Amino acid sequence: MMPDPIHVVVLAAGKGTRMKSQRPKVLHAIAGLTIIERVLRTAAALKPATVTVVVGHGADEVRRSLAPITWVPLHFVTQEQQLGTGHALLQARPVLDGKKGTVVLLSGDVPLLTAATLQALLAAHSEAGAAATVVTADFPRPFGYGRIVRTNGRISKIVEERDASDAQRKITEINSGIYAFALEPLFTALDAIGTANNQGEYYLPDLVAIYRKQRKPVATSIVTRGDEIRGINSRTELAEVTRMVRQQKNEELMAAGVTLIDPATTYVDADVVVGPDTVIYPCVFLEGSTKIGSACEIHAGSRIVNSTIGDRVCVRNHTVVTDSTVEAGAFLGPFAHVRPGSEVGEDAHIGNFVELKKTRMGKGAKANHLAYLGDATVGGASNVGAGTITCNYDGEKKHQTVIGSGVFVGSNSTLVAPVTLADGSYIAAGSAVTADVPAGALAIGRARQENKDGWVAKRKEAKAKN
Ligand code: UD1
Ligand code: CA
Repeated sequence: MMPDPIHVVVLAAGKGTRMKSQRPKVLHAIAGLTIIERVLRTAAALKPATVTVVVGHGADEVRRSLAPITWVPLHFVTQEQQLGTGHALLQARPVLDGKKGTVVLLSGDVPLLTAATLQALLAAHSEAGAAATVVTADFPRPFGYGRIVRTNGRISKIVEERDASDAQRKITEINSGIYAFALEPLFTALDAIGTANNQGEYYLPDLVAIYRKQRKPVATSIVTRGDEIRGINSRTELAEVTRMVRQQKNEELMAAGVTLIDPATTYVDADVVVGPDTVIYPCVFLEGSTKIGSACEIHAGSRIVNSTIGDRVCVRNHTVVTDSTVEAGAFLGPFAHVRPGSEVGEDAHIGNFVELKKTRMGKGAKANHLAYLGDATVGGASNVGAGTITCNYDGEKKHQTVIGSGVFVGSNSTLVAPVTLADGSYIAAGSAVTADVPAGALAIGRARQENKDGWVAKRKEAKAKN
């Protein structure tokens, strides 16, 4: 028998007022992934037949942000007015009508939920043959949550904080807002939910009482790690959850053989990979799809974004690398800026105050101090002296500078692109190079120095006469 198809619905239409943000709440990021993307990754583990996101506030922005996702079968429905969680789920009807299986309802703002908890929910749900199963937790301070009311030990209804009696407020078992529902009776039952409550909203948890009156089985599945069901409602909660997520990522890295000098100040995004025996100093940011090899040193204050770093690379302090590749054994920094589209070859050196943009540095090439190399290729073992600048932009277009291998570019040279310095050529310090330099040639592009003998004494004499 085929297993029951799973249909996930994610509620993400709410405003998130307490975030005080122009951006929809679910699009705030935690360690490089939006809150809702984290929820969808968890949902994907269930191999769902459909995933429906209910959008409302900032609907277009949420759709746009999730548009690139192809690893779950995404559908969007819009809840024009936020009339409550029951009303929100009703919006998924056009996607789910005529389908069979189990609906798993998630909140778009609960990012720590694990797939294991959802598996446990589904197991409890099918074991009880339930119409609805609620994920609950025991919170010593349950303020603000819906409370699980039990009769003879069995769940009979859920009451919201605002609608609860004093006695009900003392109940510590809370509703996580995560549920499994049998699809077949769901939408008919949702139609029966009213708005006779403190907020005048359609409360999804009212489904419990509706099913119990119909004598349909309702089950619960308790989650012991309460942190998992924490919702994000404020910037403080965003920061707290972010800290927990980062700590977990750092623990994974350390377990895989990475040294973190100070895990509390190491900021590594979800998808970053780091090889063993790499040492990461404090205040380092590794972001996006960055991959770091093994036995590297990444020193304090550096930030590496969407880049691939080979083995044994030394990134000295305060270096920024973005959308670039650095091959094994290279040295960067301190204070280097490797901008998008750059490739630093094996054993190359990029020193202090050197900026690269769309530039390929060959194997063992060096630019050790104070240089700007943009739209350039530098061949193997070439040396670019301090103060060298590629003039890659003429005010309208960008042009290429091609430096061959074994080239020596003297300090303070100005390379006016397009220009080619062929293999083994030499550029005299202080040259403005405006024409191609043949292989093995010396180019001198500056006025010859003139010494005026006795000039200082003559000037003094002239001054004294006046
Ligand atoms: C809800 C539950 C409460 C539970 C708590 C757990 C209800 C009535 N109460 O309360 O029992 O303890 O979650 O966190 O369901 N949303 C929509 N459209 C709406 C209203 C909400 O999409 O019209 C979305 C929100 O964006 C959010 C989720 O549904 O992602 C939960 O809504 P929220 O208003 O935060 O519910 P709570 O008051 O927290
Ligand atoms: Ca909430």
